[in-house]
Amino acid sequence: MIKSLLLYMSDQPRLQQMATKMEVSRRVARRFVAGESTDDAIRAILTLNKSGFTATLDYLGENITKLEEASHATHEYVSAVDKIQQASADSNVSLKLTQFGLALDEAACALNAEKVVQRAAGFNNFVRIDMEGSAFTDPTLRVFTALRMKYENVGIVIQAYLFRSEKDIEDMLQLKSRIRLCKGAYKEPPEISFKKKSDTDANYIKLMKILLKSGIYHGIATHDPHMIQATKEFVRQENIGKNEFEFQMLYGIRRDLQEKLIHEGYRLRIYVPYGEEWYSYLMRRMAERPANLMFVVRNLFRG
Ligand code: FDA
Repeated sequence: MIKSLLLYMSDQPRLQQMATKMEVSRRVARRFVAGESTDDAIRAILTLNKSGFTATLDYLGENITKLEEASHATHEYVSAVDKIQQASADSNVSLKLTQFGLALDEAACALNAEKVVQRAAGFNNFVRIDMEGSAFTDPTLRVFTALRMKYENVGIVIQAYLFRSEKDIEDMLQLKSRIRLCKGAYKEPPEISFKKKSDTDANYIKLMKILLKSGIYHGIATHDPHMIQATKEFVRQENIGKNEFEFQMLYGIRRDLQEKLIHEGYRLRIYVPYGEEWYSYLMRRMAERPANLMFVVRNLFRG
């Protein structure tokens, strides 16, 4: 109930306008978002690198309404790739295709995304294409597939809560694609997605095994101790090295688990979001764990 409400709120422009003006929500956002500028984000990444984490940079903003906004995002990402290189930061980038114009003009979006992939290729760096709500699954896979046919340094995300994901993984593995597996963060109808957490979790484990047996370097993105344990057991059993895959987690979430994994010698990449458009991102994080609302309440009562 609370989860649905928060996911609904994540999509409401009026609420977004209000929240981004309030000091308290800005304060809460800073727990999960590295800052508003690229320089803030690079600073956060360098600090993470010192503690043994790699990173992936995400410039927040999605569902744009004009192609000029897509050009702005493209420019921001190309410049972020340059700044990562200049700072010798150990980070790649993650992008959402709706921010590049997917809902407005698929061909223009593909060209925009290609500019980032091409720039990253010049530095031997990597671009991950995030997966959004199910209305965008097919177009996202189409744009990704076209890019993957031309470039090695681009990967995709697959969401375990969708029924279709096993088949999508099969197709993406045919292209030898690097995949990030996550549970999925959007509100999806029961006709196409698992509704029970236990079903999503069982599918996550099934897909994790398919990925890790493929011999390709994938990302296992989760904060769920059960998913992490299942992954550790599987790689041990299959003799898969700790450097043949990576765990991935979000900035500011389960920092205890993040440190533990590094301490145990696993690879862990932190997803570092930054930018002024942090509202939808923050609401999805709240929806995943309504207990985070207590963090908001505590901040409300701080001077
Ligand atoms: P789950 O939600 O079952 O939570 C398990 C445990 O993890 C909780 O009990 C809690 O301890 C901890 N936890 C989880 N979320 C928390 C939070 N917000 N705050 C505090 N604790 C929390 N989704 C998507 O649809 N498309 C995408 O491209 C991506 N990309 C992506 C990249 C990376 C690096 C990560 C880690 C995640 C994504 N996601 C995503 C989000 C993903 O789909 C999912 O919504 C969240 O990771 C939460 O799911 P968990 O696997 O963590 O488990």
